[in-house]
Amino acid sequence: MNWNAQLYDGKHRFVSEFGQDVIKLLAPVAGEKILDVGCGTGDLAASLFSQGVQAAGVDQSPSMIQEAKQKYPDVSFLVRDAHDLQYEEEFDAVFSNAAIHWMKQPGRVLTSIWKSLKPGGRLVAEFGGKGNVRAISRTIIHQIDDYDSKMFPWFFPSVGEYTCMMEQAGFRTAFAEHFHRPTRLEGADGMHNWITMFGDVVMGAQTPEEKKRIITGAVNELKEEYFFTDYWIADYWRIRVVGIKE
Ligand code: BEZ
Repeated sequence: MNWNAQLYDGKHRFVSEFGQDVIKLLAPVAGEKILDVGCGTGDLAASLFSQGVQAAGVDQSPSMIQEAKQKYPDVSFLVRDAHDLQYEEEFDAVFSNAAIHWMKQPGRVLTSIWKSLKPGGRLVAEFGGKGNVRAISRTIIHQIDDYDSKMFPWFFPSVGEYTCMMEQAGFRTAFAEHFHRPTRLEGADGMHNWITMFGDVVMGAQTPEEKKRIITGAVNELKEEYFFTDYWIADYWRIRVVGIKE
């Protein structure tokens, strides 16, 4: 994925703002070694660092990591694929916010996280769950002739599916929840910005002109139900989990 780190920071800051709730669930202790998987432009790893944590962040996007390093030169950031983190029993906790749904082989990701943790270490994560952005993705797909469902880019499991995978990877599920979080996209162009930033992958190899048409069509379709004078609502559903490495 070729991410636009400036558009991410400029218009989608709510991603790391919501992440503060997940940090509360993580309950970091100063001195702990914690890895942020899918750290984006580094805000949450930096927030952990400011609380005295030995924080590190990894992301598979070079542009996100470049931006993270520029913003927070004191924190360690690396380009790494979460399917193969290459750490052995290094971290007290692995944390992840709004990233796991992008990862194609969730079982491999869980095994790789499990290996990275010290015995007794914890995984604390939030990501899109079953039903997440259903209206938005259906509307984009509706604009595309002969959409191949194999191209659907995200993994939005139910809590049952995901906790089963956690247990197969060797975690004890200490906490799991699946909840609706309608999410505000600010401004009259909020949905247009969201689809430009995140929906591009749903559109696959369409030409730039086709993509423009699809975005305009999708925004018009969504308007009646999801636009409110000067903001939009995105139909987010979240999964939150805590797993303990046994
Ligand atoms: C999410 O955080 O739920 C999400 C973000 C971008 C694309 C799909 C889902």
